[in-house]
Amino acid sequence: MAYFDNGNQIFKDARREHYAVGAYNTNNLEWTRAELRAAEETRTPLLIQVSTGAAKYMGGYKFVKDMVADQIDSMNISVPVILNLDHGDYESAKECIALGYSSVMFDGHALPVEENLAKTKEIIKLAHERGISVEAEIGKIGENQGADGGELASVEDAITFYKAGVDKLACGIGNIHGVYPEGWKGLNFDRLKEIADAVPVPLVLHGGSGIPEDQVKKAISLGIAKVNINTEFQLAFQKATRKYIEDKKDLDTANKGYDPRKLLLPGTEAITAAMKEMISWLGTKSIDDELKDASFDRASLNEE
Ligand code: 13P
Repeated sequence: MAYFDNGNQIFKDARREHYAVGAYNTNNLEWTRAELRAAEETRTPLLIQVSTGAAKYMGGYKFVKDMVADQIDSMNISVPVILNLDHGDYESAKECIALGYSSVMFDGHALPVEENLAKTKEIIKLAHERGISVEAEIGKIGENQGADGGELASVEDAITFYKAGVDKLACGIGNIHGVYPEGWKGLNFDRLKEIADAVPVPLVLHGGSGIPEDQVKKAISLGIAKVNINTEFQLAFQKATRKYIEDKKDLDTANKGYDPRKLLLPGTEAITAAMKEMISWLGTKSIDDELKDASFDRASLNEE
């Protein structure tokens, strides 16, 4: 039976050792398989997450949980997998906690901050009773706002939510979901550093697609331990699928090029390739290196 890790130790290690673990959105079966394959082949842990819209598209949160769990079993996945609700509201966070997701993001950024905090605390209580991890959002991640991104997270809110007991904190630092607009001003490293200096929790970078590699690496060096990726893989899938069709391979009836198992394959493989590249950008530590380091630590402890 598939087991979902809550990721708390994984993300703490990542923040301490200045690397990040990717949080990869799933949109369907192909996405799930492509992401699990990339993680298994690189021997790195991964977080698979689902947005409310994608869960609705696939048939609900239970379907997503069962599908990911069944794929882990049928693909013999041996690396840790965290299953996270992405940008959940209060009701969906409660539903995913009851279903056994190992992590939930309660996104109350649109609520007045007191209500966001009160609801976050309720979700933390429900989740922690069951060993489930909680992510909250402060400030606002941009949504096609233009060059400035969304709303900067404040250090004061970071401290308040940290004290409330969140396990991970998503901060608005000029980042934007989707494709970055022309003239985007870049990440606000000053604010990120102020937040990272104030709270020790793993920090989360939403809108991780399309940020230049040097900025991603700098953000990780300052305290980002989880990087959310969705658009990057949608574009990789789209590009490879477009090529298949432009090459008229779908019209090759003799080879059944119209069969969805063939039509969707280049895009699926492109997701695995894009994720492997992302893993190298993030410096995600393999579980083999983690084990080696752990036994090294134990050996040195025995010598003392
Ligand atoms: P992108 O689609 O911009 O990669 O953002 C993903 C994300 O932050 C999901 O929460």
